[in-house]
Amino acid sequence: MSEKKAQLIVDGRDSPIELPVYEGSTGPDVVDVSSLVGEGIFTYDPGFMSTASCDSDITYIDGDAGILLHRGYPIEQLAEKSDFLETCFLLLNGELPTADEKAAFENQIRYHTMVDEQIHQFFKGFPRGAHPMAMLCGVVGALSAFYHDTLDNDNPEHRMAAAIRVIAKMPTLASMCFKHGIGQPFMYPQNSMSFAENFLHMMFSTPCESASVSPTLSKAMDTIFLLHADHEQNASTSTVRLAGSTGTNPYACIASGIAALWGPAHGGANEAVLEMLYEIGDESHIEDYIRRAKDKDDPFRLMGFGHRVYKNYDPRAAVIRGICDEVLDELGSEDDPLFRIARKLEKIALEDEYFIKRKLFPNVDFYSGIILKAIGIPTSMFTVIFATGRTPGWIAHWNEMLSHPYKIGRPRQLYKGHTKRDYPT
Ligand code: SDX
Repeated sequence: MSEKKAQLIVDGRDSPIELPVYEGSTGPDVVDVSSLVGEGIFTYDPGFMSTASCDSDITYIDGDAGILLHRGYPIEQLAEKSDFLETCFLLLNGELPTADEKAAFENQIRYHTMVDEQIHQFFKGFPRGAHPMAMLCGVVGALSAFYHDTLDNDNPEHRMAAAIRVIAKMPTLASMCFKHGIGQPFMYPQNSMSFAENFLHMMFSTPCESASVSPTLSKAMDTIFLLHADHEQNASTSTVRLAGSTGTNPYACIASGIAALWGPAHGGANEAVLEMLYEIGDESHIEDYIRRAKDKDDPFRLMGFGHRVYKNYDPRAAVIRGICDEVLDELGSEDDPLFRIARKLEKIALEDEYFIKRKLFPNVDFYSGIILKAIGIPTSMFTVIFATGRTPGWIAHWNEMLSHPYKIGRPRQLYKGHTKRDYPT
């Protein structure tokens, strides 16, 4: 780490506190404040707006420039030239696979897509109307019951085996959440199919008839998974890291990430975008909803707009917007009323001073929901799709953390409650 320093001058102290400053390979420098606890001082940063929780080699985001790199490769290039499983390999191993490595990795995933038959019993306990994220959270955590005792977190091979298992099984479990909700039998994965094609098969085939999955739709599905694969230290990934820092098993960590992703401010936004578009209902209502989004006394927010980091544009949104055109064109839904409302809403918001000033641009969730709906995936499954795509990112960060010395995450606080007082006699 570099020899740069920062000085913290605190009123009432004789001399400044000197703190090391570290430089990354790119992006902002960081001030190492870990010694402050020894000085009797904590830093204060609710929401971690200015806090780097770790160092990482996996993903870099420049929010002002709209840059997203996975192991140095721009997301736009990966979306155009790579595919989801190759990107999973890249996130996990740090380099793109050779042709042989890619074939071997695809085979490893292919032969771990089935889940233990006992898992089927878990679904019997869920009501038909259970939210798919509630089911996914439950059954992924339950995977711990099948593997945790064969897992040594300190063994890199065991960690990679867990990574393969959880990436491979997520689409199978995701489709089971959908099938349970509609009362159809679960479909088994087909080893002859690609990852995304297999997922759509398990979603839409029945024992009576195989669904025909067009190359356009399976490519669109694969790219949606790829675009969601990782995103630095977002709320759900930070949850996975924090859970992992206690030494718990990776399935419990991934289940904690799923729980965090569910929130409408995070991964639940794609579902909330569709609900918002349905609520707007007609282009003539857009102006009123824009007014409401700007009204501080109105809790309504434009779902799919804004981002904690991207203050220019979300590069994933640019890619996914193009896929939206292709899918709606193939399905003959380019006149989809929701798509028309979305386009109109985007145009108006991007010209409105309130949104421009606050740098509120469409994020990845704004268009993904429209594509998923066009493919026939119900709104309640959108965040499950996001979780399936984000799994390689979660498990890559878990593996990266465990590959180096780490401490249990244990933030402190600014205490503003009662000071010591005695129980009344
Ligand atoms: C994802 O972190 C990640 O990387 C996440 C993600 C990933 O891949 O993991 O990229 C995926 O979660 C994308 C974001 C999906 N969420 C939504 O689309 C929900 C709607 N967006 C907002 O909830 C909000 O924009 C956040 C949560 C995404 C970001 O919030 P911030 O950075 O905490 O910003 P803020 O709430 O402080 O807002 C700044 C200003 C405020 O106005 P002022 O107080 O300055 O007057 O912008 C306003 C906010 O009121 N604002 C919005 C708005 N988002 C922020 N106003 C209207 N509509 C919105 N969507």
